[in-house]
Parts: sequence; C-alpha cells; structure tokens
Amino acid sequence: MPGAKLNRIKNMGYGAMVLEGFYGNCDDSTAMEILVHAIDNNMMIDTADAYGSGHNENLIRQAMERSSSDAFVATKFAIVFEEDQTGSEISTGWGFPLTVNGTRAYVRRAVDNSLKRLGVEQIDLLYAHFLDPGTPLEETISAMADAVREGKVGKIGLSNVKGHEIAQANLIHPVAAVQYEYSLFRREAERDIIPAVNGIGAKLVCWSPLGAGFLTGTVEKLDDGDFRNNNPRFQGENFKSNAQRLEGIMEIASSLKVTPAQLALAWLLAQGDNIIPIPGTRNKSRIDENLAALDIRLSTETLRELDSIAPVGAFEGATLV
Ligand SMILES: NC(=O)c1ccc[n+]([C@@H]2O[C@H](COP(=O)([O-])OP(=O)(O)OC[C@H]3O[C@@H](n4cnc5c(N)ncnc54)[C@H](OP(=O)(O)O)[C@@H]3O)[C@@H](O)[C@H]2O)c1
Repeated sequence: MPGAKLNRIKNMGYGAMVLEGFYGNCDDSTAMEILVHAIDNNMMIDTADAYGSGHNENLIRQAMERSSSDAFVATKFAIVFEEDQTGSEISTGWGFPLTVNGTRAYVRRAVDNSLKRLGVEQIDLLYAHFLDPGTPLEETISAMADAVREGKVGKIGLSNVKGHEIAQANLIHPVAAVQYEYSLFRREAERDIIPAVNGIGAKLVCWSPLGAGFLTGTVEKLDDGDFRNNNPRFQGENFKSNAQRLEGIMEIASSLKVTPAQLALAWLLAQGDNIIPIPGTRNKSRIDENLAALDIRLSTETLRELDSIAPVGAFEGATLV
C-alpha cells in the first residue's frame, strides 16, 4: 500500500539532482554506487523528469535493478525539457525563466514517460514541479488524480507552490507531500507553507536542506559552470555577508562536535515530525554523515541560538521562488 510505503522510509531522503552536473560532475558509476547506497538505507530518492533530461530517472532505474531493497522514488513533471513540447514561461529569482506545462495531456504523457524511464509500474510519489500559470490548478491536479486512479501513481505532491494553493489542491485530491526550499539558509516556508502543509497533514520535503551546500561551510569559490553562479545568495556582497553569518553556525557545530551539515539537518528535523530533508551529495560517505543527523537531538538552548543567528529572512539574496 503506497501510504504505508511513505511511512516506512526514513525522515532523511536523497536528492539525486546533484548527479547531473549542477554543482560539479559525477560519473555514472559513482552515481550508481551512491544511489544503491541510498536505496539500501531506505531513503526516499528525489528526482524529476527534467534532471539531465531523463538521464537521472534512467540512472535510478539501473540502481533499483542493482539494489535488493524496495525503493521509494519521488519524481516531478512540469518543466518542459523536450524540444517538441511547449508551455508557459515563468520567471525565477535566479535570473532565468522556466517553461512549464501542467495541461492534462502533458501530465499524462509525462507520467507514461517517467514510468518507462524508471522501469516501474507505479510512481510512488508524483509532484507538480511548478504550477503552470497558463493551466487551471484544477486541471493539473485532476490529471494527477486520474493517474492515481489508473494505478500509475501512488501519491501526489506539489512543489514550489503558494500556501493557499496547497489547500486548494488538497480539496481535489489528497496531497501527501509538499516540496519547498527550507533550511537555516532560507526559512520563508515558515510564513505560509508550513502552516498550510501542517493543516492538511502532509509531509514537508525540504529541497536544498544544506542551502545548496552553503551551510556545510565547504563552498568558498564556485567553478565556472556551477549552477549556483545563478543564485544571488552566492554572488558578490551577498556571499560575503552570508559567509559572516555562517561563522556563528559553524561555531555551534564545532562546540557540539557534529559537522555543520549534521547541525543544519538536525535543526530541520527539530522543526516537525513530518519534515523530510533530501540532501544531495556526490560522495557516498556523506550519505552516512547526513543520515547520522537523524540521531542528533538539539537542546532548546541550541535551537534558540540558531534562531537568533539565522531568523527568517536573515541571509541575503533572492531565491528561486
Ligand atoms: N523542487 C525543486 O524545485 C528543487 C530545487 C532544487 C533541488 N531540489 C532537490 O533537492 C535536492 C537537494 O538540494 P540541493 O542539491 O540543491 O542542495 P543541498 O542538498 O542543500 O546541498 C547539496 C550540496 O551539499 C554538498 N553536501 C552534501 N552533504 C554534505 C556534507 N555532509 N558535507 C559537506 N557537503 C555536503 C554537496 O556536495 P558534494 O556533492 O560534493 O558532497 C552538494 O554540493 C536536489 O538534489 C534535488 O533533488 C528540488
């Protein structure tokens, strides 16, 4: 039963987007080793049809074939990545537009293509990556609900939506999970997303839970071609100011004898039982490091200190949505 499957996975997932070269290259054999390790550890695997234009879903199929564990895979549709497809253009805070499509015909085609690439009979969790402003929300959600009725999809989710859209969609079909950027680096979800997610009893799946690596303290200079060059938080004065604020967080990690990544993940987990961070890494041992955050309990005093260093809106620079 898909609901039971969602409850069986750990509250720490794995974000597979990083295997597609966004933050540096990763060869397929390393990617395979990492994915099998994540599946073996019962972590939700997060992908999207657009990651590597289908390559990421193909990698995950191969990893599932190699693992003896029953994987839980969440994928997304809506970002148009095939030349023969069209959609509505949306702007982002990272300076580039995206073309998205949420029409009934597009949802149906995207689901069938993801099923093929993943080599499964059912997608465990299907998100609308972004809502299409050119298509009524009702059309997109009811097309997703049809895929559930046909047995092609287990649960549905939303990503990068507004708080009121979560309740609206949930009236059409139960929304099991909402994916949104959430970390000490970006806490705006606390304003309208978290109340809406909690209001419908869904999971909050946090993308960029390590602030796209920033909160780990390992990002000093980005290579040309690194996708984070688009992100204003990693640019010029913003980056300098953000790096200063990070120092306080690094000091707390050091005093607790945990890594900065573990502190960032433990803080997220302390925000609610329904929180699932999905950190991405191209390094197998970091999966274990990140999983160990599940066993870290932060004291009220530490949580208060982190709150004062990184309140909502503290870090500089626009965000994706
Ligand atoms: N719905 C959406 O619109 C959306 C948007 C963005 C991302 N996502 C999903 O969310 C996932 C996670 O977000 P993200 O990849 O942007 O950011 P993230 O998970 O916050 O950070 C990933 C970065 O952190 C580094 N890292 C991971 N664990 C580490 C550790 N223990 N110590 C030091 N560095 C560590 C990785 O570097 P190494 O590879 O060198 O370890 C990588 O560069 C993505 O992979 C994707 O699946 C969804």
